[in-house]
Amino acid sequence: MDRWQVQDQVIVIAGASKGIGLACAQTLLQRGARVALLARDRGRLDEAVAGFKSERACGIAADVCDKAALEQAFAAVKAKWGRIDGLVNNVGFQFARRLEVMPEPEVRKLLELNFLGPVFACQCVIPHLRAAGGGRIVNVSSASVRNDNEFSHLGLYSSAKAALEHFSRELRHELKADRIMVTVFSPGAVATGSVANFDPAALGEAMQDWLTKGPRFDGAAQPETIGAAIAGCFEFPPGVAVEFMEVRPNIPTPKMLESDWKQEQAGS
Ligand SMILES: NC(=O)c1ccc[n+]([C@@H]2O[C@H](COP(=O)([O-])OP(=O)(O)OC[C@H]3O[C@@H](n4cnc5c(N)ncnc54)[C@H](OP(=O)(O)O)[C@@H]3O)[C@@H](O)[C@H]2O)c1
Repeated sequence: MDRWQVQDQVIVIAGASKGIGLACAQTLLQRGARVALLARDRGRLDEAVAGFKSERACGIAADVCDKAALEQAFAAVKAKWGRIDGLVNNVGFQFARRLEVMPEPEVRKLLELNFLGPVFACQCVIPHLRAAGGGRIVNVSSASVRNDNEFSHLGLYSSAKAALEHFSRELRHELKADRIMVTVFSPGAVATGSVANFDPAALGEAMQDWLTKGPRFDGAAQPETIGAAIAGCFEFPPGVAVEFMEVRPNIPTPKMLESDWKQEQAGS
């Protein structure tokens, strides 16, 4: 087996019971990897794993913000499959609200889920990757780091992701001697329904701002496309890394509110 093929590698995907993480798990599994799906909700996790109908997939319930629980989760994967070759740090929480009215718990949640949790996951996986002779960490960021004018009031979210990107570059130097490579993967908009998290009032305000900024919206990519692109970051020879990859939709779509779009559909 070429160790740079993903075949038989053991990869932990944090934030994998739905959306991009689930799609990434599916691709890795199809390419012969063993995947450990990590998320908080046990029921949804069990459903996701059952859907794969594969001995090569397992689910571990843990919160990435709870470092002790995370350590146990990684130890459980090691106990099951004897090694860990990779981590996809995919947990994140996208939320738009004007900063001046954002309550303290929301500020903390944005920083915890988009920065601290992934940092804890890196801390937990490093000893396992070193013991395996090397490996890969893919930290999932967001194109909002480089496109701050596209959607309003995502400032704290994209700042936390920007911190994750800088952290990843620093970590890359720290881990090079251990043959552990670090990728920053940056998706544009993806159709995962994450906008459902938004407070309706905050979303309404952000939508109004968005409507005034240029004539086009670039649509949304499918989670399967983005999940497969993340999985592809694992299939390079040792010593070669995807250091940064950004995948964005390029679908010229007229800007309109959902209500206008429904009206247009009804009329056609
Ligand atoms: N969707 C987009 O348009 C978009 C664009 C750019 C970047 N991204 C980034 O891509 C990543 C995935 O986004 P997505 O839209 O696919 O997310 P999603 O559909 O909301 O799924 C999030 C996953 O993470 C798990 N999760 C949430 N909090 C967790 C925690 N504290 N500990 C462990 N697991 C947790 C969720 O399960 P539980 O709730 O059961 O824990 C779920 O499996 C995120 O980092 C996001 O910021 C998304």
